[in-house]
Amino acid sequence: MRIVVGITGGIAAYKAPELVRLLVKAGHEVRCAATEHALEFVTRVTLETVSGHPLYCDLFANNERSTQHISLKDWGDMLIVAPATANIIGKVANGIADDALSTLLLAFSQKPVVMAPAMNSLMWAHPAVQRNIETLRGWGIRMVGPAEGELACGTDGIGRMSEPSEIVDAALSSSHCPLSTQKWLVTAGPTYERIDRVRFIGNYSSGKMGFALAEALAEAGAEVELVTGPTHLDINHPHIHVVRVESAREMYAAATEAFPQCTGAILSAAVADYHPAECADHKLKKQGDEGMTLQLVQNPDILATLGGMKQQQTLVGFALETDHELENAQGKLQRKHLDHIVMNSLRDEGAGFGVDTNKVTILSADGSRKESPLMSKKEVARLIVNTITS
Ligand code: CTP
Repeated sequence: MRIVVGITGGIAAYKAPELVRLLVKAGHEVRCAATEHALEFVTRVTLETVSGHPLYCDLFANNERSTQHISLKDWGDMLIVAPATANIIGKVANGIADDALSTLLLAFSQKPVVMAPAMNSLMWAHPAVQRNIETLRGWGIRMVGPAEGELACGTDGIGRMSEPSEIVDAALSSSHCPLSTQKWLVTAGPTYERIDRVRFIGNYSSGKMGFALAEALAEAGAEVELVTGPTHLDINHPHIHVVRVESAREMYAAATEAFPQCTGAILSAAVADYHPAECADHKLKKQGDEGMTLQLVQNPDILATLGGMKQQQTLVGFALETDHELENAQGKLQRKHLDHIVMNSLRDEGAGFGVDTNKVTILSADGSRKESPLMSKKEVARLIVNTITS
């Protein structure tokens, strides 16, 4: 996962590098964001060294960074604030964004946020702090600690920041990463079927939906094998392994090899149904007025093959239809032994190939049906992942 660690100005900030180190050791990619006061307790150099990335602490450091809270929000799958002072808790509870970290926290409203409060026990007991904590909990922000013990001010009581290992365990527990022990296969993009050295039969699929699905699965904690046909898209996520293929037969080989190790598969690729019987090893010459006939041979149906192989796995297909949408999609659901099928209608504006939006109907083997409004492909991907894994 990609995790942003936010550090605020309390004595426990000296434990933040250890937290970052544990997350990196567990295979996560980490970037740090700190308040100005945090840097009184822990240095920029330490945080940049343990995370391996520049620190984010100044909203206006330069023009490029003035929207860094948005790019960090897009980059991160989760934000952990440790330590979280009474001040940052109060700011978020009241929608105040007056520095880099508080701005990032508001931008993170749709993604998992975990806070490890740390403060003096009297401050912790203050009704304002308790009210703010309840507000944040109500919004789904997870609180880890504080623990009881010796405090920096010399007294004993509740207010110590939980140990970094406890924060890591709590943050990565199943409720935040419901798919953390799972591996998923996703197919994406078009396939190209070679005619000769310079030509192919292809289609307009961009791969955007499949890439968004891989990202949504990884955000929920899964390892993802993304088998994609030719696309300009790129993805750089520690839990997404990209396998680039060209033809339907190559996609078939990669998908059937990966599937037995997977908890489930979502096949969103626009696979060519046929390939030319012969692929010339030179550039074919034009054949004159009488035209030209290409002999085509059927490709293997990857989805139907996985439907035949499947044991306990969840199998999800796509159906891009132009007419008799529901009937056709329902037919594919049954014929290919699927658990769910995601139907796009080319009659819906904003749905289908190339665009950034989509509108889908998810039909399930248990007879249920969920329709989405027109949403970004990222949002549709989250809806699909939530539906098929709940
Ligand atoms: N699919 C596949 N392998 C193929 C063809 C399709 O895995 N050779 C998958 C697609 O990735 C998609 C689903 O099957 O998840 C439906 O694809 P679609 O082209 O709509 O269905 P077909 O079964 O090819 O039916 P038709 O072309 O007759 O509509």
